[in-house]
Amino acid sequence: MHMETPWWRDAVVYEIYVRSFADASGDGVGDLAGIRQRLPYLAELGVDAIWLTPFYRSPMADGGYDVADYRDVDPLFGTLADFDALVADAHGHGLRVIVDIVPNHSSSEHEWFKTALRGEGRDRYLFRDGGELPPNNWQSTFSGPAWSRTPDGQWYLHLFAAEQPDFNWRNPEVRSEFLDVLRFWLDRGVDGFRIDVAMGLYKAEGLPDTPPEDQAFKAESPIWGRPEVHEVYREWRKVLDSYPDERMAIGEVWTDSAEDLALYVRPDELHQSFNFAWLEAPWSATAFQKVIDDTLAAVTAPTWVLSNHDVVRHVTRYGGGLINSTTGLARARAALLAMLALPGSAYLYQGEELGLPEVTDLPPESRQDPIFARSRGTLPGRDGCRVPIPWSGVAEPYGFSPDGARPWLPQPVEWAVLSAEHQASDPGSTLSFYQEALRARRELRGSFTDGITWLDSPEGALFFSRGPLTCVINCGSDSVQLPPHERVLIGSAPVDGYLLPPDTAAWLHTP
Ligand code: NOJ
Repeated sequence: MHMETPWWRDAVVYEIYVRSFADASGDGVGDLAGIRQRLPYLAELGVDAIWLTPFYRSPMADGGYDVADYRDVDPLFGTLADFDALVADAHGHGLRVIVDIVPNHSSSEHEWFKTALRGEGRDRYLFRDGGELPPNNWQSTFSGPAWSRTPDGQWYLHLFAAEQPDFNWRNPEVRSEFLDVLRFWLDRGVDGFRIDVAMGLYKAEGLPDTPPEDQAFKAESPIWGRPEVHEVYREWRKVLDSYPDERMAIGEVWTDSAEDLALYVRPDELHQSFNFAWLEAPWSATAFQKVIDDTLAAVTAPTWVLSNHDVVRHVTRYGGGLINSTTGLARARAALLAMLALPGSAYLYQGEELGLPEVTDLPPESRQDPIFARSRGTLPGRDGCRVPIPWSGVAEPYGFSPDGARPWLPQPVEWAVLSAEHQASDPGSTLSFYQEALRARRELRGSFTDGITWLDSPEGALFFSRGPLTCVINCGSDSVQLPPHERVLIGSAPVDGYLLPPDTAAWLHTP
Protein backbone atom coordinates (compact mmCIF):
# COMPACT_ATOMS: atom_id res chain seq x y z
CA MET A 1 0.00 0.00 0.00
CA HIS A 2 1.22 3.50 -0.79
CA MET A 3 1.35 6.43 1.59
CA GLU A 4 -1.33 8.26 -0.35
CA THR A 5 -3.94 5.49 -0.04
CA PRO A 6 -7.13 7.30 1.00
CA TRP A 7 -8.45 6.26 4.41
CA TRP A 8 -11.65 4.64 3.18
CA ARG A 9 -9.99 2.29 0.71
CA ASP A 10 -9.02 -0.30 3.32
CA ALA A 11 -11.03 0.97 6.30
CA VAL A 12 -12.92 -1.31 8.65
CA VAL A 13 -16.24 0.43 9.15
CA TYR A 14 -18.61 -0.41 12.00
CA GLU A 15 -22.31 0.03 11.31
CA ILE A 16 -24.24 1.55 14.20
CA TYR A 17 -27.98 0.96 13.96
CA VAL A 18 -28.65 3.95 16.16
CA ARG A 19 -31.92 2.80 17.79
CA SER A 20 -30.29 -0.37 19.03
CA PHE A 21 -26.75 0.54 20.02
CA ALA A 22 -26.84 2.37 23.36
CA ASP A 23 -29.54 4.37 25.14
CA ALA A 24 -28.32 7.18 27.40
CA SER A 25 -31.67 8.95 27.86
CA GLY A 26 -33.52 5.98 29.33
CA ASP A 27 -36.44 5.84 26.89
CA GLY A 28 -35.50 2.37 25.64
CA VAL A 29 -34.22 3.65 22.27
CA GLY A 30 -30.55 4.12 21.42
CA ASP A 31 -29.34 7.69 20.95
CA LEU A 32 -26.37 9.85 20.00
CA ALA A 33 -25.31 10.42 23.62
CA GLY A 34 -25.30 6.64 24.11
CA ILE A 35 -22.98 6.20 21.13
CA ARG A 36 -20.68 8.87 22.52
CA GLN A 37 -20.33 6.95 25.77
CA ARG A 38 -19.36 3.80 23.89
CA LEU A 39 -16.70 5.33 21.64
CA PRO A 40 -13.85 3.98 23.80
CA TYR A 41 -15.26 0.47 23.21
CA LEU A 42 -15.16 1.02 19.44
CA ALA A 43 -11.66 2.47 19.54
CA GLU A 44 -10.52 -0.57 21.54
CA LEU A 45 -12.27 -2.91 19.13
CA GLY A 46 -9.98 -1.41 16.48
CA VAL A 47 -12.32 -0.17 13.75
CA ASP A 48 -11.46 2.88 11.63
CA ALA A 49 -14.86 4.45 11.14
CA ILE A 50 -18.47 4.31 12.20
CA TRP A 51 -21.52 4.51 9.96
CA LEU A 52 -24.61 5.89 11.67
CA THR A 53 -28.04 4.85 10.36
CA PRO A 54 -30.55 7.75 10.11
CA PHE A 55 -30.99 9.88 13.22
CA TYR A 56 -32.89 12.66 11.44
CA ARG A 57 -36.35 13.92 12.34
CA SER A 58 -38.68 11.07 11.55
CA PRO A 59 -42.01 9.58 12.58
CA MET A 60 -40.11 6.25 12.56
CA ALA A 61 -42.42 4.38 10.20
CA ASP A 62 -39.29 2.58 8.92
CA GLY A 63 -36.85 3.01 11.78
CA GLY A 64 -35.78 6.48 10.61
CA TYR A 65 -35.46 5.65 6.88
CA ASP A 66 -38.52 7.88 6.58
CA VAL A 67 -36.98 11.32 6.97
CA ALA A 68 -39.16 14.34 7.77
CA ASP A 69 -36.31 16.86 8.06
CA TYR A 70 -32.91 16.11 6.53
CA ARG A 71 -31.20 18.85 8.49
CA ASP A 72 -32.17 18.06 12.06
CA VAL A 73 -31.79 15.33 14.69
CA ASP A 74 -34.93 13.61 15.94
CA PRO A 75 -35.55 14.36 19.64
CA LEU A 76 -35.60 10.58 20.15
CA PHE A 77 -31.88 10.55 19.33
CA GLY A 78 -30.79 13.94 20.72
CA THR A 79 -29.97 17.32 19.23
CA LEU A 80 -27.67 18.82 16.64
CA ALA A 81 -25.39 19.76 19.54
CA ASP A 82 -25.24 16.05 20.52
CA PHE A 83 -24.33 15.24 16.94
CA ASP A 84 -21.54 17.82 16.85
CA ALA A 85 -20.20 16.50 20.16
CA LEU A 86 -20.31 12.94 18.85
CA VAL A 87 -18.36 13.85 15.70
CA ALA A 88 -15.77 15.75 17.73
CA ASP A 89 -15.32 12.87 20.19
CA ALA A 90 -15.22 10.25 17.43
CA HIS A 91 -12.50 12.19 15.66
CA GLY A 92 -10.70 12.50 18.98
CA HIS A 93 -10.68 8.69 19.15
CA GLY A 94 -9.37 8.47 15.60
CA LEU A 95 -12.72 7.28 14.24
CA ARG A 96 -14.20 8.70 11.03
CA VAL A 97 -17.94 9.28 10.83
CA ILE A 98 -20.14 8.23 7.91
CA VAL A 99 -23.82 9.21 7.98
CA ASP A 100 -26.76 7.78 6.08
CA ILE A 101 -28.51 9.84 3.44
CA VAL A 102 -31.93 8.79 2.14
CA PRO A 103 -32.54 10.33 -1.30
CA ASN A 104 -35.04 7.90 -2.87
CA HIS A 105 -37.94 8.90 -0.64
CA SER A 106 -38.86 11.13 2.26
CA SER A 107 -41.30 10.66 5.10
CA SER A 108 -44.94 11.43 4.42
CA GLU A 109 -44.45 13.94 7.26
CA HIS A 110 -41.85 15.88 5.26
CA GLU A 111 -42.92 19.50 4.66
CA TRP A 112 -42.80 18.95 0.88
CA PHE A 113 -45.14 15.97 1.03
CA LYS A 114 -47.55 17.70 3.38
CA THR A 115 -47.62 20.63 0.96
CA ALA A 116 -48.15 18.18 -1.91
CA LEU A 117 -51.14 16.63 -0.17
CA ARG A 118 -52.62 20.11 0.06
CA GLY A 119 -52.32 20.19 -3.72
CA GLU A 120 -49.12 22.22 -4.24
CA GLY A 121 -45.73 21.09 -5.52
CA ARG A 122 -46.83 17.55 -6.32
CA ASP A 123 -44.15 17.37 -8.97
CA ARG A 124 -41.53 16.82 -6.26
CA TYR A 125 -43.03 13.33 -5.83
CA LEU A 126 -44.57 10.81 -8.22
CA PHE A 127 -48.28 11.53 -8.19
CA ARG A 128 -50.44 10.03 -10.97
CA ASP A 129 -54.11 9.70 -11.84
CA GLY A 130 -55.28 6.14 -11.74
CA GLY A 131 -58.98 5.89 -11.14
CA GLU A 132 -59.99 3.02 -8.89
CA LEU A 133 -56.85 1.03 -9.72
CA PRO A 134 -53.21 2.01 -9.10
CA PRO A 135 -51.47 3.59 -12.13
CA ASN A 136 -49.28 0.51 -12.70
CA ASN A 137 -48.56 -2.97 -11.32
CA TRP A 138 -45.46 -2.11 -9.28
CA GLN A 139 -45.19 -3.77 -5.89
CA SER A 140 -43.60 -2.28 -2.78
CA THR A 141 -40.34 -3.88 -1.65
CA PHE A 142 -42.10 -4.21 1.70
CA SER A 143 -44.99 -6.13 0.02
CA GLY A 144 -48.35 -4.87 -1.20
CA PRO A 145 -48.88 -2.31 -3.96
CA ALA A 146 -46.31 0.48 -4.43
CA TRP A 147 -49.12 3.04 -4.70
CA SER A 148 -51.39 4.69 -2.17
CA ARG A 149 -54.33 6.93 -2.89
CA THR A 150 -54.80 10.43 -1.59
CA PRO A 151 -58.25 11.66 -0.48
CA ASP A 152 -58.62 13.63 -3.74
CA GLY A 153 -58.24 10.46 -5.82
CA GLN A 154 -54.64 10.74 -7.09
CA TRP A 155 -52.10 8.05 -6.33
CA TYR A 156 -48.48 8.46 -5.22
CA LEU A 157 -45.63 6.01 -5.65
CA HIS A 158 -43.78 4.49 -2.68
CA LEU A 159 -41.37 1.67 -3.37
CA PHE A 160 -41.21 1.01 0.38
CA ALA A 161 -43.85 1.83 3.04
CA ALA A 162 -46.80 4.12 2.30
CA GLU A 163 -45.19 6.58 4.73
CA GLN A 164 -42.16 6.78 2.38
CA PRO A 165 -43.25 8.62 -0.81
CA ASP A 166 -40.68 8.43 -3.63
CA PHE A 167 -39.18 11.70 -4.85
CA ASN A 168 -39.37 12.74 -8.48
CA TRP A 169 -35.69 13.04 -9.33
CA ARG A 170 -36.51 14.54 -12.73
CA ASN A 171 -37.49 17.69 -10.84
CA PRO A 172 -34.33 19.88 -10.55
CA GLU A 173 -35.50 21.14 -7.17
CA VAL A 174 -35.03 17.64 -5.72
CA ARG A 175 -31.51 17.47 -7.12
CA SER A 176 -30.45 20.80 -5.71
CA GLU A 177 -32.06 20.10 -2.34
CA PHE A 178 -29.88 17.02 -1.85
CA LEU A 179 -26.72 18.85 -2.88
CA ASP A 180 -27.55 21.30 -0.16
CA VAL A 181 -28.20 18.52 2.39
CA LEU A 182 -24.81 17.00 1.57
CA ARG A 183 -23.13 20.34 2.23
CA PHE A 184 -25.03 20.79 5.48
CA TRP A 185 -23.51 17.62 6.96
CA LEU A 186 -20.10 18.04 5.32
CA ASP A 187 -19.90 21.47 6.94
CA ARG A 188 -20.59 19.76 10.29
CA GLY A 189 -17.56 17.56 9.75
CA VAL A 190 -18.85 14.20 8.52
CA ASP A 191 -16.30 12.09 6.64
CA GLY A 192 -18.71 10.37 4.33
CA PHE A 193 -22.20 9.24 3.37
CA ARG A 194 -23.88 5.88 3.02
CA ILE A 195 -26.48 6.32 0.30
CA ASP A 196 -29.73 4.51 0.93
CA VAL A 197 -31.22 2.65 -2.08
CA ALA A 198 -28.55 4.18 -4.29
CA MET A 199 -29.77 2.23 -7.33
CA GLY A 200 -33.23 3.80 -6.93
CA LEU A 201 -34.06 7.51 -7.43
CA TYR A 202 -34.95 7.44 -11.15
CA LYS A 203 -37.76 5.36 -12.61
CA ALA A 204 -38.34 4.69 -16.31
CA GLU A 205 -40.27 7.45 -18.06
CA GLY A 206 -43.96 6.60 -18.22
CA LEU A 207 -43.69 4.23 -15.22
CA PRO A 208 -44.55 1.17 -17.38
CA ASP A 209 -46.14 -2.02 -16.10
CA THR A 210 -43.33 -4.46 -15.37
CA PRO A 211 -43.29 -8.27 -15.08
CA PRO A 212 -42.77 -9.34 -11.44
CA GLU A 213 -39.31 -10.80 -12.11
CA ASP A 214 -38.12 -7.41 -13.39
CA GLN A 215 -39.33 -5.67 -10.26
CA ALA A 216 -36.66 -7.36 -8.13
CA PHE A 217 -33.38 -5.52 -7.49
CA LYS A 218 -31.46 -6.12 -10.69
CA ALA A 219 -29.17 -4.43 -13.16
CA GLU A 220 -31.82 -3.52 -15.70
CA SER A 221 -35.38 -2.81 -14.70
CA PRO A 222 -37.78 0.10 -15.14
CA ILE A 223 -37.62 0.57 -11.37
CA TRP A 224 -33.96 0.22 -10.39
CA GLY A 225 -30.56 1.14 -11.75
CA ARG A 226 -31.69 3.67 -14.36
CA PRO A 227 -28.77 5.24 -16.21
CA GLU A 228 -29.80 8.78 -15.15
CA VAL A 229 -28.83 8.07 -11.54
CA HIS A 230 -25.15 8.15 -12.42
CA GLU A 231 -25.38 11.82 -13.35
CA VAL A 232 -26.51 12.51 -9.78
CA TYR A 233 -23.48 10.75 -8.31
CA ARG A 234 -21.16 12.66 -10.64
CA GLU A 235 -22.60 15.84 -9.21
CA TRP A 236 -22.30 14.55 -5.65
CA ARG A 237 -18.69 13.56 -6.26
CA LYS A 238 -17.85 17.12 -7.21
CA VAL A 239 -19.30 18.37 -3.94
CA LEU A 240 -17.37 15.76 -1.93
CA ASP A 241 -14.15 16.57 -3.76
CA SER A 242 -14.58 20.26 -2.99
CA TYR A 243 -14.00 19.49 0.73
CA PRO A 244 -10.63 18.64 2.23
CA ASP A 245 -9.67 15.32 3.87
CA GLU A 246 -11.00 12.68 1.48
CA ARG A 247 -14.74 12.83 2.12
CA MET A 248 -16.37 9.75 0.62
CA ALA A 249 -19.64 8.10 -0.33
CA ILE A 250 -20.69 4.45 -0.40
CA GLY A 251 -23.80 3.39 -2.23
CA GLU A 252 -26.28 0.79 -1.07
CA VAL A 253 -26.59 -0.91 -4.44
CA TRP A 254 -28.53 -4.16 -4.62
CA THR A 255 -28.01 -5.66 -8.05
CA ASP A 256 -27.49 -9.04 -9.67
CA SER A 257 -24.15 -8.34 -11.32
CA ALA A 258 -20.68 -7.21 -10.32
CA GLU A 259 -20.39 -5.32 -13.62
CA ASP A 260 -23.44 -3.25 -12.76
CA LEU A 261 -22.03 -2.55 -9.31
CA ALA A 262 -18.85 -1.31 -10.95
CA LEU A 263 -20.78 1.43 -12.79
CA TYR A 264 -21.45 3.20 -9.48
CA VAL A 265 -17.77 3.38 -8.60
CA ARG A 266 -16.40 4.80 -11.83
CA PRO A 267 -13.66 7.33 -11.00
CA ASP A 268 -15.98 10.35 -11.11
CA GLU A 269 -18.83 8.73 -9.16
CA LEU A 270 -19.05 7.04 -5.75
CA HIS A 271 -15.96 5.88 -3.89
CA GLN A 272 -17.46 2.56 -2.90
CA SER A 273 -20.60 0.52 -3.19
CA PHE A 274 -21.66 -2.28 -0.91
CA ASN A 275 -20.90 -5.65 -2.36
CA PHE A 276 -23.73 -7.83 -1.11
CA ALA A 277 -22.72 -10.90 -3.10
CA TRP A 278 -21.00 -12.57 -0.14
CA LEU A 279 -23.87 -11.85 2.17
CA GLU A 280 -26.11 -13.63 -0.32
CA ALA A 281 -23.77 -16.59 -0.80
CA PRO A 282 -24.13 -19.92 1.03
CA TRP A 283 -21.36 -21.36 3.23
CA SER A 284 -19.32 -22.86 0.41
CA ALA A 285 -15.73 -22.56 -0.78
CA THR A 286 -16.84 -22.54 -4.42
CA ALA A 287 -19.40 -19.84 -3.78
CA PHE A 288 -16.93 -17.71 -1.78
CA GLN A 289 -14.26 -18.04 -4.43
CA LYS A 290 -16.68 -16.94 -7.13
CA VAL A 291 -17.79 -13.91 -5.11
CA ILE A 292 -14.18 -12.91 -4.50
CA ASP A 293 -13.09 -13.43 -8.12
CA ASP A 294 -16.10 -11.63 -9.62
CA THR A 295 -15.68 -8.71 -7.23
CA LEU A 296 -11.97 -8.27 -7.70
CA ALA A 297 -12.35 -8.50 -11.47
CA ALA A 298 -15.07 -5.86 -11.57
CA VAL A 299 -14.10 -3.18 -9.03
CA THR A 300 -10.86 -1.56 -7.94
CA ALA A 301 -12.08 -0.42 -4.50
CA PRO A 302 -13.91 -3.49 -3.20
CA THR A 303 -16.01 -3.73 -0.05
CA TRP A 304 -17.06 -6.79 1.91
CA VAL A 305 -20.04 -7.23 4.19
CA LEU A 306 -21.50 -10.22 5.98
CA SER A 307 -24.35 -8.64 7.95
CA ASN A 308 -26.32 -5.42 8.29
CA HIS A 309 -29.59 -4.19 9.77
CA ASP A 310 -31.62 -5.57 6.83
CA VAL A 311 -30.60 -9.22 6.75
CA VAL A 312 -30.56 -12.28 9.01
CA ARG A 313 -27.39 -12.19 11.11
CA HIS A 314 -24.72 -14.41 9.59
CA VAL A 315 -24.24 -16.54 12.72
CA THR A 316 -27.78 -17.73 12.11
CA ARG A 317 -27.51 -17.82 8.31
CA TYR A 318 -24.49 -20.07 8.52
CA GLY A 319 -25.91 -22.24 11.28
CA GLY A 320 -29.11 -23.29 9.63
CA GLY A 321 -31.27 -20.95 11.64
CA LEU A 322 -30.63 -22.31 15.12
CA ILE A 323 -30.44 -19.83 17.95
CA ASN A 324 -26.90 -19.73 19.37
CA SER A 325 -25.78 -22.38 16.95
CA THR A 326 -22.16 -23.35 17.54
CA THR A 327 -21.72 -24.19 13.85
CA GLY A 328 -23.03 -20.80 12.83
CA LEU A 329 -20.74 -19.03 15.25
CA ALA A 330 -17.66 -21.00 14.18
CA ARG A 331 -18.38 -20.22 10.53
CA ALA A 332 -19.05 -16.55 11.25
CA ARG A 333 -15.68 -16.25 12.98
CA ALA A 334 -13.97 -18.02 10.09
CA ALA A 335 -15.68 -15.76 7.53
CA LEU A 336 -14.38 -12.71 9.39
CA LEU A 337 -10.78 -13.79 8.91
CA ALA A 338 -11.36 -14.36 5.20
CA MET A 339 -13.06 -10.98 4.85
CA LEU A 340 -10.33 -9.10 6.70
CA ALA A 341 -7.62 -10.70 4.58
CA LEU A 342 -9.08 -9.39 1.32
CA PRO A 343 -8.13 -6.15 -0.40
CA GLY A 344 -10.54 -3.30 0.17
CA SER A 345 -12.70 -2.28 3.03
CA ALA A 346 -14.84 -4.32 5.42
CA TYR A 347 -18.17 -3.28 6.90
CA LEU A 348 -19.08 -4.85 10.24
CA TYR A 349 -22.54 -4.73 11.76
CA GLN A 350 -22.92 -3.91 15.45
CA GLY A 351 -23.13 -7.01 17.61
CA GLU A 352 -21.37 -9.33 15.17
CA GLU A 353 -18.25 -8.86 17.31
CA LEU A 354 -20.29 -10.41 20.12
CA GLY A 355 -21.36 -13.31 17.90
CA LEU A 356 -25.01 -12.30 18.28
CA PRO A 357 -27.45 -14.59 16.51
CA GLU A 358 -30.69 -13.46 14.87
CA VAL A 359 -33.53 -13.34 17.39
CA THR A 360 -36.10 -15.52 15.68
CA ASP A 361 -38.75 -15.74 18.39
CA LEU A 362 -39.74 -12.11 18.93
CA PRO A 363 -43.38 -11.90 20.00
CA PRO A 364 -45.54 -10.61 17.10
CA GLU A 365 -46.81 -7.68 19.19
CA SER A 366 -43.25 -6.41 19.68
CA ARG A 367 -42.35 -6.43 15.98
CA GLN A 368 -41.98 -2.97 14.47
CA ASP A 369 -40.60 -3.51 10.99
CA PRO A 370 -43.22 -2.31 8.45
CA ILE A 371 -42.50 -5.48 6.45
CA PHE A 372 -44.23 -7.52 9.17
CA ALA A 373 -47.39 -5.42 9.14
CA ARG A 374 -47.53 -4.90 5.36
CA SER A 375 -47.18 -8.63 4.74
CA ARG A 376 -49.87 -9.30 7.39
CA GLY A 377 -47.36 -11.23 9.43
CA THR A 378 -46.39 -13.63 6.65
CA LEU A 379 -42.86 -12.16 6.54
CA PRO A 380 -41.04 -11.83 9.87
CA GLY A 381 -39.25 -8.63 8.86
CA ARG A 382 -35.90 -7.40 10.09
CA ASP A 383 -36.44 -6.83 13.81
CA GLY A 384 -34.55 -10.02 14.65
CA CYS A 385 -31.20 -8.46 13.70
CA ARG A 386 -32.06 -5.15 15.37
CA VAL A 387 -32.42 -6.31 18.97
CA PRO A 388 -30.57 -3.87 21.28
CA ILE A 389 -26.97 -4.71 22.14
CA PRO A 390 -26.24 -6.50 25.43
CA TRP A 391 -23.50 -4.47 27.10
CA SER A 392 -23.38 -5.77 30.66
CA GLY A 393 -25.30 -7.39 33.49
CA VAL A 394 -27.31 -10.58 33.52
CA ALA A 395 -30.80 -9.44 32.57
CA GLU A 396 -32.62 -7.03 30.28
CA PRO A 397 -31.76 -4.22 29.56
CA TYR A 398 -28.18 -5.58 29.79
CA GLY A 399 -26.74 -2.08 30.17
CA PHE A 400 -28.29 -1.00 26.86
CA SER A 401 -30.58 1.39 28.74
CA PRO A 402 -30.31 2.58 32.33
CA ASP A 403 -31.79 -0.04 34.71
CA GLY A 404 -35.55 0.02 34.85
CA ALA A 405 -35.99 1.08 31.21
CA ARG A 406 -37.45 -1.37 28.68
CA PRO A 407 -35.61 -1.62 25.37
CA TRP A 408 -37.78 -1.05 22.29
CA LEU A 409 -37.39 -4.73 21.38
CA PRO A 410 -37.14 -7.45 24.05
CA GLN A 411 -33.70 -9.03 24.55
CA PRO A 412 -33.34 -12.81 24.95
CA VAL A 413 -32.62 -14.25 28.39
CA GLU A 414 -29.73 -16.22 26.86
CA TRP A 415 -27.82 -13.02 26.07
CA ALA A 416 -26.21 -12.63 29.53
CA VAL A 417 -23.21 -14.67 28.37
CA LEU A 418 -22.97 -12.68 25.15
CA SER A 419 -22.67 -9.25 26.79
CA ALA A 420 -19.65 -7.13 25.91
CA GLU A 421 -18.65 -7.00 29.58
CA HIS A 422 -18.83 -10.79 29.94
CA GLN A 423 -16.79 -11.36 26.79
CA ALA A 424 -14.18 -8.67 27.47
CA SER A 425 -12.64 -10.73 30.26
CA ASP A 426 -12.55 -13.96 28.26
CA PRO A 427 -9.60 -14.31 25.84
CA GLY A 428 -11.48 -17.03 23.95
CA SER A 429 -14.59 -14.94 23.40
CA THR A 430 -15.77 -13.70 20.01
CA LEU A 431 -15.18 -10.11 21.16
CA SER A 432 -11.54 -10.88 22.02
CA PHE A 433 -11.18 -12.68 18.69
CA TYR A 434 -12.47 -9.65 16.76
CA GLN A 435 -10.10 -7.35 18.65
CA GLU A 436 -7.21 -9.66 17.91
CA ALA A 437 -8.10 -10.00 14.22
CA LEU A 438 -8.47 -6.25 13.76
CA ARG A 439 -5.15 -5.67 15.51
CA ALA A 440 -3.44 -8.24 13.28
CA ARG A 441 -4.92 -6.60 10.18
CA ARG A 442 -3.58 -3.22 11.25
CA GLU A 443 -0.15 -4.65 11.84
CA LEU A 444 -0.08 -6.40 8.46
CA ARG A 445 -1.59 -3.53 6.48
CA GLY A 446 1.75 -2.17 5.31
CA SER A 447 2.89 -5.51 3.92
CA PHE A 448 -0.28 -6.52 2.06
CA THR A 449 -0.10 -6.74 -1.72
CA ASP A 450 -2.89 -4.98 -3.63
CA GLY A 451 -4.30 -8.20 -5.02
CA ILE A 452 -4.54 -11.82 -3.84
CA THR A 453 -2.97 -14.99 -5.20
CA TRP A 454 -4.95 -18.21 -5.07
CA LEU A 455 -2.96 -21.21 -3.88
CA ASP A 456 -3.84 -24.83 -4.57
CA SER A 457 -6.23 -26.04 -1.92
CA PRO A 458 -8.06 -29.27 -1.12
CA GLU A 459 -11.74 -29.50 -2.02
CA GLY A 460 -13.97 -27.55 0.33
CA ALA A 461 -11.16 -25.20 1.37
CA LEU A 462 -9.71 -21.94 0.03
CA PHE A 463 -6.11 -20.80 0.39
CA PHE A 464 -4.93 -17.40 -0.81
CA SER A 465 -1.99 -15.17 -0.09
CA ARG A 466 -1.44 -11.43 0.15
CA GLY A 467 2.23 -10.77 0.60
CA PRO A 468 3.46 -12.54 3.74
CA LEU A 469 -0.07 -13.48 4.80
CA THR A 470 -1.69 -16.71 3.74
CA CYS A 471 -5.37 -16.98 4.61
CA VAL A 472 -6.92 -20.43 4.80
CA ILE A 473 -10.59 -21.25 5.28
CA ASN A 474 -12.21 -24.65 5.44
CA CYS A 475 -15.86 -24.75 4.39
CA GLY A 476 -15.85 -28.54 3.96
CA SER A 477 -16.73 -31.28 6.42
CA ASP A 478 -13.25 -32.85 6.83
CA SER A 479 -10.05 -31.40 8.23
CA VAL A 480 -7.53 -30.36 5.60
CA GLN A 481 -3.77 -30.10 5.68
CA LEU A 482 -2.35 -26.58 6.01
CA PRO A 483 -0.02 -25.26 3.29
CA PRO A 484 3.65 -24.66 4.21
CA HIS A 485 4.05 -21.73 6.60
CA GLU A 486 6.28 -20.35 9.31
CA ARG A 487 3.69 -19.84 12.03
CA VAL A 488 -0.01 -19.42 12.70
CA LEU A 489 -0.82 -15.76 13.34
CA ILE A 490 -4.44 -16.17 14.35
CA GLY A 491 -7.12 -18.80 14.08
CA SER A 492 -10.88 -18.51 14.26
CA ALA A 493 -10.60 -21.59 16.50
CA PRO A 494 -7.50 -23.36 17.86
CA VAL A 495 -5.28 -24.48 14.95
CA ASP A 496 -2.39 -26.84 15.69
CA GLY A 497 -0.13 -25.98 12.77
CA TYR A 498 -0.85 -29.07 10.65
CA LEU A 499 -4.57 -29.45 10.19
CA LEU A 500 -7.37 -27.00 9.60
CA PRO A 501 -10.63 -28.31 11.08
CA PRO A 502 -13.99 -27.78 9.31
CA ASP A 503 -15.67 -24.38 9.82
CA THR A 504 -12.33 -22.79 10.68
CA ALA A 505 -10.04 -20.17 9.15
CA ALA A 506 -6.53 -19.03 10.01
CA TRP A 507 -3.90 -16.52 9.02
CA LEU A 508 -0.48 -18.01 8.41
CA HIS A 509 2.79 -16.16 8.21
CA THR A 510 4.70 -17.19 5.08
CA PRO A 511 7.86 -15.14 4.65
C1 NOJ B 1 -32.40 0.30 2.90
C2 NOJ B 1 -32.25 0.42 4.36
O1 NOJ B 1 -31.07 -0.21 4.77
C3 NOJ B 1 -33.49 -0.21 4.95
O2 NOJ B 1 -33.38 -0.40 6.33
C4 NOJ B 1 -34.68 0.63 4.57
O3 NOJ B 1 -35.85 0.01 5.04
C5 NOJ B 1 -34.78 0.80 3.07
N1 NOJ B 1 -33.52 1.09 2.47
C6 NOJ B 1 -35.73 1.90 2.71
O4 NOJ B 1 -35.20 3.14 3.07
